[in-house]
Amino acid sequence: MSDLELAKEAVEKAGKILRNNYKEDYGIERKAKHDMVTDIDKRAEEEIINILEKSGHSVYGEETGKHEGDEKTWIVDPLDGTTNFILNNPAFSSAIALLDENDEILLSTIYIPFTDDLFHAVKGEGAYLNGENIFVSSEENLEDSLLVYCHGKKPEDAERAVEIYSELKTDCKDLRQIGSASIEFGMVAQGTSEAFVFPGAPSYDAAPGMLILKEAGGKVTTFEGEEWDLESKTMVASNGKVHEEIVERLG
Ligand code: IPD
Ligand code: CA
Ligand code: CA
Repeated sequence: MSDLELAKEAVEKAGKILRNNYKEDYGIERKAKHDMVTDIDKRAEEEIINILEKSGHSVYGEETGKHEGDEKTWIVDPLDGTTNFILNNPAFSSAIALLDENDEILLSTIYIPFTDDLFHAVKGEGAYLNGENIFVSSEENLEDSLLVYCHGKKPEDAERAVEIYSELKTDCKDLRQIGSASIEFGMVAQGTSEAFVFPGAPSYDAAPGMLILKEAGGKVTTFEGEEWDLESKTMVASNGKVHEEIVERLG
C-alpha cells in the first residue's frame, strides 16, 4: 500500500470511531483551560497509529507523542475539534500529514465523518476533495470575504484571538470560529472562505491543512508576512488575494 493509501485508510477508520461514539458516553478530561481530550481521541489515535506503522515511518501523535520509525514522520491529529465533539456539534475531523527528514510536508489527508468529505494532497500534485480538484476563491476584497479563525491553547493565543476578532469582524462578511483547524483550512482550500487566521498553531493542527491549502493555490505566512514553518507561532492561510490586507492589519 502507498503512503497516500495508508493515510486515507487511517483517517477514514478513525472517522468511523468518531462517528460511532458521537453522543455516546465516554470519559472527558480537561488538560488545560482551553484543552480537552476524550477517550475517543485516544481510541482514534491508536487506530491511526496501527495503520500508519505499516509504512515503517515514525509517527508523532497529538495524544501519545513520538513512535520511532524511519526518518519520515507522520503527524497525527486523531480528533480535530474535540470541544465540538463534546458539544454534540459535528464539525470535527481526523487529520494526518507526512513530513520528510527536513520537515517538508509530502502529503496529507483530512476526513470529516459527518459530511463524508475526504481531502487529500500530495506535494506538487494539487489538492482534492472526494477525488475532485479544488481551488481557493478569487475574491479580492476583504469586505466581501468570509473569514475563519481559531487559536492555540495558551492564554496569550486566546487573547490574540480576541484582538483579531475586534480588528476584523466588522470589516468583512463574517469572521467565524468553526472549532476544527483542519476543517477551516479545508474551507479556504475549496473557496468557501477567503482566509483562516490562527495564533498559536501547533504542527498537528497546521501541517495537514497547510499542504492542502497550498496545493489548492493558497498562500500561508506568519502574521508578519514571513514564510511559515512548523515552528512559527502565528499563521494566516488565504486565497492569496486578500492576504496582504490581513497581514497589514495583524502584523
Ligand atoms: C483544536 C481545534 C480548534 C483550535 C484549537 C485546536 P483539538 O484542536 O482545531 O479549532 O482552536 O487550537 O487545538 O484540540 O480539538 O484537536
Ligand atoms: Ca487539533
Ligand atoms: Ca486533537
